[in-house]
Amino acid sequence: MYQNVFIIGATGKVGSTLVHQIYEKGDTSRSIHVNPTRIVGLASSSSVAFSKKGIGKKEALKFLKTKNGISYNRLDELIALARTNRDHLVFVDVTALKEPMIEFHKKVISKTPFSIVTANKNPIAYADFNTFTFLTKEPDRYGYRCSVMAGADAVPFLRDLRDVRDKPTLIEGCFSGTLGYITSMLERNKRFSDILDTAWRRGYTEPDPRDDLSGFDVARKLVVLARSAGVPVGLKEVHVQPFIPRSYFKKESVGKFIRSTKGLDHHFAQEIKSAKKNGSVLRYVATMRMKGNTPCLSVRLQKVVTNSQLVALQGTLNKILVVSKIYGKENPYSVQGPGAGLDVTAQNIRRDLLYLLERRVITQ
Ligand SMILES: NC(=O)c1ccc[n+]([C@@H]2O[C@H](COP(=O)([O-])OP(=O)(O)OC[C@H]3O[C@@H](n4cnc5c(N)ncnc54)[C@H](OP(=O)(O)O)[C@@H]3O)[C@@H](O)[C@H]2O)c1
Repeated sequence: MYQNVFIIGATGKVGSTLVHQIYEKGDTSRSIHVNPTRIVGLASSSSVAFSKKGIGKKEALKFLKTKNGISYNRLDELIALARTNRDHLVFVDVTALKEPMIEFHKKVISKTPFSIVTANKNPIAYADFNTFTFLTKEPDRYGYRCSVMAGADAVPFLRDLRDVRDKPTLIEGCFSGTLGYITSMLERNKRFSDILDTAWRRGYTEPDPRDDLSGFDVARKLVVLARSAGVPVGLKEVHVQPFIPRSYFKKESVGKFIRSTKGLDHHFAQEIKSAKKNGSVLRYVATMRMKGNTPCLSVRLQKVVTNSQLVALQGTLNKILVVSKIYGKENPYSVQGPGAGLDVTAQNIRRDLLYLLERRVITQ
């Protein structure tokens, strides 16, 4: 039996990498897989290609280039198209949409038999906790590992902890590849404004680097992790201290903003000096700590002592540490992996798809 897949955001960076991987790795091959993948739908922001019998490699790659399909206006229209297919289907969300995707995810899970795999963290971070619980209650219908750490095993581990009733008392980690890169470079005594300029020019940051520096992306990931562990929190509960002072977040062009950060070069040089003097390093750390029954969530730049497990992190690597009754303070459970990357994310979306198979049979 085929696993039918409908990719929304197929023309984006992650989406097109996924489409290439699916064909290049032979996921569609009946001679390799008992349940091969069949791409039945590909959508960009305004155009969709759909075929019940499956879209061939040539047509799919052409769509990624030309976005030449049927035009559409609302995500609901994609559900209507999918309903013309009698077989089961998985929507893959590789957009960065917020409100319309919350509604779309809710509709797919409540009103259709279809499933979802998402790399887009917005629907599960911005929606309220009840909606998060509703969307994720059937793990074999909703895969969201790629919403944090490009799909490393943080999400499935915390979900399993919740279900074996070993609630974490501490989740701590560095989840921003961009901010990890910046702190590593600061340690090498590079100037903050130069590091930021290079990172932005090389595409390591979001198109607007203020989106990384505000800390909200890290806060959204922390909310997804805490919720996965069964802790009923939302973004409002996260105390976010941006990587740089709020006064720098003015409405001005990216170039002007980056130039303005020269004013922070001395500040960061001093911070690094004082951290080194105390045997510490700078890390942008996200923390969820239970105080009794109350979860306390924060995201901030910290001086971390050198015996911490977060110190060894270099560059864009991400890591989380989890303390619970079973995983005590001395032996926290840790998950480490690249925090971003097109190939790693696309591969982990394919892993989520494997977990959604009705009957997974090991291939030769
Ligand atoms: N990059 C990574 O390493 C990484 C890792 C983990 C998770 N993610 C997440 O993966 C998602 C995609 O990231 P990306 O870098 O691939 O983004 P991207 O290159 O900006 O691609 C976004 C895709 O969404 C489509 N889109 C935009 N508006 C839409 C709408 N109204 N309806 C339907 N589709 C729409 C775009 O179509 P058009 O081509 O028509 O604009 C495009 O195909 C994001 O949520 C990101 O946070 C990324």
